[in-house]
Amino acid sequence: MQRETMMRAAVYHQYGAPDVVHLTSVPKPIPNPDELLIRVVATTVNRTDTGFRSAEYVVSRLFSGVVRPKFPILGCEFSGVVEAVGSRVTRFSVGDRVFGWDDARFGSHAEYRISREDSCIDIIPDGFTFSQAAALTEGAQYALHDIRAANVVRGTSVLVYGATGAIGSAAVQLCKNIGAFVTAVCGTQHTELVRLLGADEVVDYQTQDFTATERRYEFVFDAVGKRSFTECKHLLKANGIYISTELGKRGDNVWRALAAPLLRRFDDGKRVLFPLPLTKPEMTHEVRTVAASGDFNPLIDREYSLNDIVEAHRYAESGMKVGNVIVRVSE
Ligand SMILES: NC(=O)c1ccc[n+]([C@@H]2O[C@H](COP(=O)([O-])OP(=O)(O)OC[C@H]3O[C@@H](n4cnc5c(N)ncnc54)[C@H](OP(=O)(O)O)[C@@H]3O)[C@@H](O)[C@H]2O)c1
Repeated sequence: MQRETMMRAAVYHQYGAPDVVHLTSVPKPIPNPDELLIRVVATTVNRTDTGFRSAEYVVSRLFSGVVRPKFPILGCEFSGVVEAVGSRVTRFSVGDRVFGWDDARFGSHAEYRISREDSCIDIIPDGFTFSQAAALTEGAQYALHDIRAANVVRGTSVLVYGATGAIGSAAVQLCKNIGAFVTAVCGTQHTELVRLLGADEVVDYQTQDFTATERRYEFVFDAVGKRSFTECKHLLKANGIYISTELGKRGDNVWRALAAPLLRRFDDGKRVLFPLPLTKPEMTHEVRTVAASGDFNPLIDREYSLNDIVEAHRYAESGMKVGNVIVRVSE
């Protein structure tokens, strides 16, 4: 009988604080005929990883396992090199530099992972490092999803609150790429950075009250989930849309979104949407296209080695990362 080949991976077998994660040896996965084996070079620890790990929202356990995690290796974003391909794979070859997203099975906090060829995976755009490529998907795909739901087009006026987060910084760049007018809100130390992302106007929430402006918006996007519809409603034009990345106090954003069709006659049609974050391979391809054209570059904050994965979880969970936290798995 052939002996299993082993690899290093960061695993968790119970929900909880960052230190439920530890490094160990696990069997190296073997690809099925429609799958690729990828040698992971870089990955991220993002808010999806920390959210599933802590199971702070109990509802996440419906996907990740009610009592304990079904998929013990986290990491939904990855970049790396194709090491082997299954017999039915036609889109990719051994040696391709790829990046992608997997929030169903995760599995990127390891030396190797497998992905189906028809999943959210694509070739790394020219000129992108493995670290940049690993950070291409989460923020941009969530931002894109919400921007679509809000029907942002050329000339739409958008306010992005939390413009330094992974989602917020992607939203500023993607809205500008569409041709929207963007007001970005961030803390004092990040105003210059956010201006460089392309924002037309930057408001420092530490020295200014962003709700006091005379400007009115078609879309207010609370990309860090810190505000509420009530606080922001007067900033919206008639029929304006408010989206938050969080459920809100007592699930406010969810029930307001559910009630929106009934409430449209009130408040000049101003309403909350809560689009479920469904990601599709076409979105990964679209993000690749925008990145390849130079119109989207993910913000990168700290880089850790796989040995320091627990620290990376702690920092990502602090709510103060600037863009993305990278974990280097191999060179
Ligand atoms: N549960 C899930 O599966 C899931 C998945 C993805 C995202 N999300 C949610 O989406 C949200 C955004 O995630 P992310 O990764 O894009 O964010 P993030 O990167 O964690 O955002 C960090 C940034 O937010 C800013 N910030 C912190 N407190 C703020 C405040 N009170 N007002 C304004 N800005 C503040 C900070 O910049 P400044 O210093 O400039 O303020 C910091 O740089 C999070 O709430 C996260 O929980 C949830």
